Amino acid sequence: MSDNKIYLSGIKPTGTVHLGNYIGMLSQMRDISRDHKTIMFIADLHSLNSVHDAAAVREHTYEIAAIIMSIGFNMENVLMFRQSDVPAVCELSTMLTNVTPKGLMDRAHSYKAAIDKNIAAGNDADFGVNMGLYTYPILMAADILLYNSDVVPVGADQKQHVEFARDIAGHFNTIYGNVFRLPEAQIMPDAGIIPGLDGRKMSKSYDNVIPLMAPSADLKKRVMRIITDSKTPEEPKDPDASTIYMLYRHFATAAESAELADRFRAGGMGYGTAKTILFEKLDSVLSPMRARYEYLMAHRDELDAALAGGAEIARRVADKTMSRVRHVMLGTKK
Ligand code: TRP
Repeated sequence: MSDNKIYLSGIKPTGTVHLGNYIGMLSQMRDISRDHKTIMFIADLHSLNSVHDAAAVREHTYEIAAIIMSIGFNMENVLMFRQSDVPAVCELSTMLTNVTPKGLMDRAHSYKAAIDKNIAAGNDADFGVNMGLYTYPILMAADILLYNSDVVPVGADQKQHVEFARDIAGHFNTIYGNVFRLPEAQIMPDAGIIPGLDGRKMSKSYDNVIPLMAPSADLKKRVMRIITDSKTPEEPKDPDASTIYMLYRHFATAAESAELADRFRAGGMGYGTAKTILFEKLDSVLSPMRARYEYLMAHRDELDAALAGGAEIARRVADKTMSRVRHVMLGTKK
């Protein structure tokens, strides 16, 4: 089922990777990598609009690299690198600013959300908004266009950004001729909202996450802390209203999920038992990945080598694109 299309995704190193990231994005990119050329880069430059701590950026970058190398990606098909190792992305970003309408940035959901929040809080509309946040979609367009990506699999929240990249490429091509491939967003099959410990969407900002690579004992503690209602063990329960079941079904087979759902509905199973079942399933799926992850985190030289190798290939692709872009924009020799 392989086509020759290039699939690309970026992950910001802004925090500990959790089950929500795994279910909503990483596991889906892993599946794509089975049959497709897949570019996975760590968007450290993108993290800078919110993280101003170099040690944290570096650490989260290593974590993500180690995770990509641990969760079963087909590394034969994967080009993995750190965004900032290819400085051409900044050059392309600067060039793209000149064909990007300001109104496009004003309409960006992420920028508008920041403004709405400020206004609701009675602050100045642009309070705390830096230019990195404002021009975020241009840098993201540069990521996508630099590597001739065909398909950008994203969650619904990132769809607009990919459409912007396509719009920007279209403006560019209209002015300068056919330089860029027009990328397409592929909306990842909706995994639904992945609930966190408190039942709200699993998110770092709610402090309700289960880290993907939490050691076994930690994982167990977190699972046991999942908030439930106060139904007694005897009472029938709605699996689809339970965080426990909603997490379980992403890691269990269809048959196992159906069986647990039946036990919820039948009554006679307490939440403590259900949590133990969830923990054991998570632990059995995640343990082998965690072992490899822990090995890599203890062998940073291997991560450095993998990132350096990826960067070298990425720079070669980027150089080709940039020589065309410089030629059409600046009149330099090809
Ligand atoms: N904006 C994406 C996010 O917040 C990360 C990202 C940066 C990205 N550049 C990208 C995703 C290019 C896809 C393609 O998750």
